Amino acid sequence: MSELPSSLPLGSDGYPAAGGVARRPAGAAESARANRRWWDAAAPAYLAEHGGDLGDADFLWCPEGLREAEAHLLGEVAGRRVLEIGCGSAPCSRWLRTAGADVVALDLSAGMLARAAELNRATGIDVPLLQADAGALPVAADTVDVVCSAFGGLPFVADVEGALREVARVLRPGGRFVASVNHPMRWPFPDSPTPTTSGSCPPTSTGRPTWRPTDTG
Ligand SMILES: C[S@@+](CC[C@H](N)C(=O)[O-])C[C@H]1O[C@@H](n2cnc3c(N)ncnc32)[C@H](O)[C@@H]1O
Repeated sequence: MSELPSSLPLGSDGYPAAGGVARRPAGAAESARANRRWWDAAAPAYLAEHGGDLGDADFLWCPEGLREAEAHLLGEVAGRRVLEIGCGSAPCSRWLRTAGADVVALDLSAGMLARAAELNRATGIDVPLLQADAGALPVAADTVDVVCSAFGGLPFVADVEGALREVARVLRPGGRFVASVNHPMRWPFPDSPTPTTSGSCPPTSTGRPTWRPTDTG
């Protein structure tokens, strides 16, 4: 699966402009196409906004700053087969590789994976990158020790139960799955750890908050 970055019109913040949004049922294929298109267009703005905080080879679970190095939510990863879902530019997978994991970094967006490939080269930490939908993992059953995801894919799929069934299918018996996603109460708070911003971030149809600064002083 590969696709050139799309040409969705962008807003002044660099993200795809809101507009023409409606709520209606969408099947898995349509949902994946829309997600891919949105994230390909959003990748430059997302990485400009968050890339500095995420780092090149660091595992940050959330904007609040919880790191896998301190939290050890995944347990011992050295020598384990790990699949990261929704890896973006893949800093978490690179950190896992340096911790000794046999990791594959999966994302739907060619725009995100292009940046991940650049960072692989820049850091010399060459994690395998896989372009695929969280709802249809191209991975054999019972082959993965750990699946992880930091806000990757799962908040954006139409059929989250289907995506979780895929996680269960690829995990070995006794394997571990850890994911961070927003609690709905998170939406009123900033999407960035930057201390000087405040405002409101209502959810959009994609699930990403549209961060509207009200005070940058
Ligand atoms: C909020 S970003 C998180 C990226 C990365 N985990 C991080 O912490 O920066 C969400 C990521 O999920 C990916 N994504 C969205 N829908 C997806 C899907 N259906 N399957 C796989 N990845 C998906 C996007 O391309 C994007 O890279």
